[in-house]
Amino acid sequence: MAQKSPESLTCDQSLSSQEDREGPEEGLSPPCDPGQTKTSSVRVLTKEEVDRLSCERVLVSGFKQMKLEKDCQKNWDLFYKRNSTKFFKDRHWTTREFEELRACREFESQKLVLLEAGCGVGNCIFPLLEDDLNIFVYACDFSPRAVEFVKLNPLYCPERCSAFQCDLTKDDLRENVPEGGVDVITLIFVLSAIHPDKMKLALQNISRVLKPGGIVLFRDYGLYDHAMLRFKAGSKLGENFYVRQDGTRSYFFSKELLAELFQDSGLQCVSNDYVLRETVNKKEGLCVPRVFLQSKFTKASRASDDSLHEDT
Ligand SMILES: C[S@@+](CC[C@H](N)C(=O)[O-])C[C@H]1O[C@@H](n2cnc3c(N)ncnc32)[C@H](O)[C@@H]1O
Repeated sequence: MAQKSPESLTCDQSLSSQEDREGPEEGLSPPCDPGQTKTSSVRVLTKEEVDRLSCERVLVSGFKQMKLEKDCQKNWDLFYKRNSTKFFKDRHWTTREFEELRACREFESQKLVLLEAGCGVGNCIFPLLEDDLNIFVYACDFSPRAVEFVKLNPLYCPERCSAFQCDLTKDDLRENVPEGGVDVITLIFVLSAIHPDKMKLALQNISRVLKPGGIVLFRDYGLYDHAMLRFKAGSKLGENFYVRQDGTRSYFFSKELLAELFQDSGLQCVSNDYVLRETVNKKEGLCVPRVFLQSKFTKASRASDDSLHEDT
């Protein structure tokens, strides 16, 4: 199937591609989500699903793949031109799922310094800034429009927030964030948008600004998520890697691959689980199985670095 250039998409076409994203239901889930199960096992596919996935042998041509990589920043920027701040809902679940956002201070009055890498229009950071007065947030995205939307948000103030444009795979974060100066990094539905060959570069980049003992909080698409099974023929770029109609791409992670990527970037696994949820696709009146991967990784603290040296 010929890939349409994102600029030529009509509103309806881009709406249908929205179905492939994690969707607005990811924004608001109840304080204690009863519909969500955490598991270490990968989702078991039905026979039809196995057949459907094994049919997809033809990959998008190398030439088109190179163009998608060259245009990845432009395609996300156009996504925000079309959708402005209206696509993703505020992510009010982060403090429920990641208690570190409240509890990782050594003393109560300590200001928590956070980096939201790939912040989009700020759906993750603004609920945090609203809830917790003692937090400073660095937020970056490679889409200039997204960064502009963050700065225009009424909750944005330079005393508590610093938003800047940065391609995590190319631009050294230390130009905007002090080396080793961040307690917590959130990576929410971002790594999946980066080409698998460049994911390690992004992780090494964030690792440099993370404090020893600091933590990365990760949530993203998991292997065999409903969105992965919905891609039409002609959308496959590689193993577990697909392109949407608007030219943005999505990788679907196994927990093993994710753990390896972080480990190779010098970060140690604290937890790494699939989150299974059934959500209703209102348009089709269907209950669909969503799979996300939710994980935490830490950078060895100096004390444990020293003890490693002592042992050797
Ligand atoms: C699905 S959105 C998630 C936004 C935000 N984290 C949230 O939770 O709402 C993915 C974001 O990653 C950004 N992104 C993709 N590749 C990037 C890269 N190489 N460097 C920086 N940002 C990137 C996109 O521009 C987009 O805003």
